Amino acid sequence: MASREAPPSPFKPDVLSGRVALVTGGGSGIGLEIVRQLGLHGAHVVISGRREAVLAEAVAALGAEGITAHYVQGDVRRYEDCERTVEGAVARFGRLDILVNCAAGNFLSPAEQLSSNGFRTVLEIDTLGTFNMCRAAFAPLKAAGAGPAGTGPGALIINISMTLHYGATWWQAHASAAKAAVDSLTRSLGLEWGLYGIRTAGVAPGPIEGTAGMTKLAPGSDAAAAVTEMVNTSIPLGHMGRRWDIAQACVFLASPAAAFVTGHTLVVDGAEWLCKQPL
Ligand code: HXC
Repeated sequence: MASREAPPSPFKPDVLSGRVALVTGGGSGIGLEIVRQLGLHGAHVVISGRREAVLAEAVAALGAEGITAHYVQGDVRRYEDCERTVEGAVARFGRLDILVNCAAGNFLSPAEQLSSNGFRTVLEIDTLGTFNMCRAAFAPLKAAGAGPAGTGPGALIINISMTLHYGATWWQAHASAAKAAVDSLTRSLGLEWGLYGIRTAGVAPGPIEGTAGMTKLAPGSDAAAAVTEMVNTSIPLGHMGRRWDIAQACVFLASPAAAFVTGHTLVVDGAEWLCKQPL
């Protein structure tokens, strides 16, 4: 099935004007499209990730679209990298309003074959990495929040999650545990940091076409076509999501329209998780 064209954005192009966003894992895939959409709606953007060449290429591509972007290389598992990333963002643009935690690691493995280190690695990237970035960004986000949530867009954390842990998913014990903890953190910070005008929300994508996650599910073109067909027919809306769908959910959460939304994870999956069996 061919990729579906993204329609024009329903949001005004200046809806995020004057705001600064930092996106971990922003150099490729869903993270890059989130960066792109935040930038196309007026935000200045900073991306971080482990691979400097990927980040540099992304910043150049964003610049060609008129988006002011900057990168800081780092690994979210290391707290000192997170502090350096936040400092780099504030040094470049003078403030930080929006943090998107998109960095993630995953692979398929039956639980009985998963090593302790494999389990720990995914929890360290997804869960500890998300906490590290939130904690490192707290001071500038608090400064940007400047008042009780609900009175304006304030500051915002978006944690990119998944739906695989709502029930249980084959060979995903590690990622399911990691993202369940991320969702819990979204609620905890929504509670505690709402006092500082910082909203915390999650976005839980379903199957998204053309992503690393889908490639890992089905390496090889024949397998990929079969899995794509199977996934499409198992989604009530009849098709996989686009990276654009996830990025637009982030634009909505960052916009004043979502000023009273916090502590909640928004599922963007065409009702896929509600319908585990093919229709
Ligand atoms: C079993 C595996 C494995 C595999 C790694 N490990 N890959 N075990 N099956 N396919 C084990 C290793 O053997 C090692 O344990 C431990 O995990 C750490 O592996 P490293 O390669 O040393 O870790 P690192 O270099 O830090 O790489 C992290 C990674 C890697 C998660 C393993 O895949 C990565 O960096 N991915 C980032 C991008 C990514 O995964 N994106 C997809 C997100 S999509 P031992 O015991 O041997 O030392 C998504 C949606 C769901 O999350 C998609 C469903 C698949």
